[in-house]
Amino acid sequence: MRRMVVVASVKGAPGATTTALALATQWPTVDGEAPTGRGRSTSTGTSASDGAGVRLLLEADPSGGDVAAWRGLSQSPGLLDLAAAVRHGSDSGDLIARWAQPLTKPGALLVPAPASAAQARAGSELLARNSFAAVRGANEAASSGVLVVDVGRLGPVETSWAGAADALVLVCKGGVDALAHVAAAIEDLKAAASWMCLAVVGPCPYPMAEIARNLGLDRVQHLPWDPDAVDALRRGAPPRRRRGRHTLPAAMEDLIREVRRHVELPAARPAAPPSAESPTHGWESHR
Ligand SMILES: Nc1ncnc2c1ncn2[C@@H]1O[C@H](COP(=O)(O)OP(=O)(O)O)[C@@H](O)[C@H]1O
Ligand SMILES: [Mg+2]
Repeated sequence: MRRMVVVASVKGAPGATTTALALATQWPTVDGEAPTGRGRSTSTGTSASDGAGVRLLLEADPSGGDVAAWRGLSQSPGLLDLAAAVRHGSDSGDLIARWAQPLTKPGALLVPAPASAAQARAGSELLARNSFAAVRGANEAASSGVLVVDVGRLGPVETSWAGAADALVLVCKGGVDALAHVAAAIEDLKAAASWMCLAVVGPCPYPMAEIARNLGLDRVQHLPWDPDAVDALRRGAPPRRRRGRHTLPAAMEDLIREVRRHVELPAARPAAPPSAESPTHGWESHR
């Protein structure tokens, strides 16, 4: 079954879409290889027969989508087409992949939200109102892979998305004020989500382990401030590997490894490599 990971923020623009894009494009397939492009989708709606290994990014942020603009893609097929298909109950099988377009070659697929906030909100609410049965059905129809849903800032509708997911990745900035907003919302979010973790973007005065302890979370992942890596990610360019530092791509890999540990079925779970606890990759090295 394809797993569903919701990425959200509580306040401001801390980097939720950036994180969602990295998760969808860096998430490995079951065998650790890049997908074969079987999920390649077109405006006429072809897609993988069972969605095996497909990595999907669904933009459901009611303030409007960004990724189509970042990658120079069309806004359709996208969220509005998917919401209309769900509303009419017209599709079966992997309907999310059906309304997606290629995001990487080969590999990940994007269901973009329109840039217009009014349209994006209508699409996101329409999907949520029609329950998540259709989204779950599409995920069950796929034998593996991931659906990353960027819901933007959490409100009631976005929290219901989080409740329907296998995992919630909450993204916040590292400032004291941002962490206070997270602390105020954390108990409600823990109650809503099957499992959640926090990604802290940029400079932070606290060790990640201390934040995790105070918030009662298994994991808080630091994501370093790295404009060059974000720029490459947005353009779809390979990240420049730098030695001797904790880079954003490496931190995203740590985050993905942690989320996979919690959402993937035991059979598909890879053994955690030793670097998962390595001081050069952990939060300790860049707090
Ligand atoms: N790790 C990071 N390093 C540097 N800049 C970042 C990072 N994460 C996000 N940004 C920048 O922060 C801004 C908001 O990012 P975005 O992902 O659109 O946030 P959100 O989806 O939460 O509104 C963008 O200008 C983006 O380039
Ligand atoms: Mg966003």
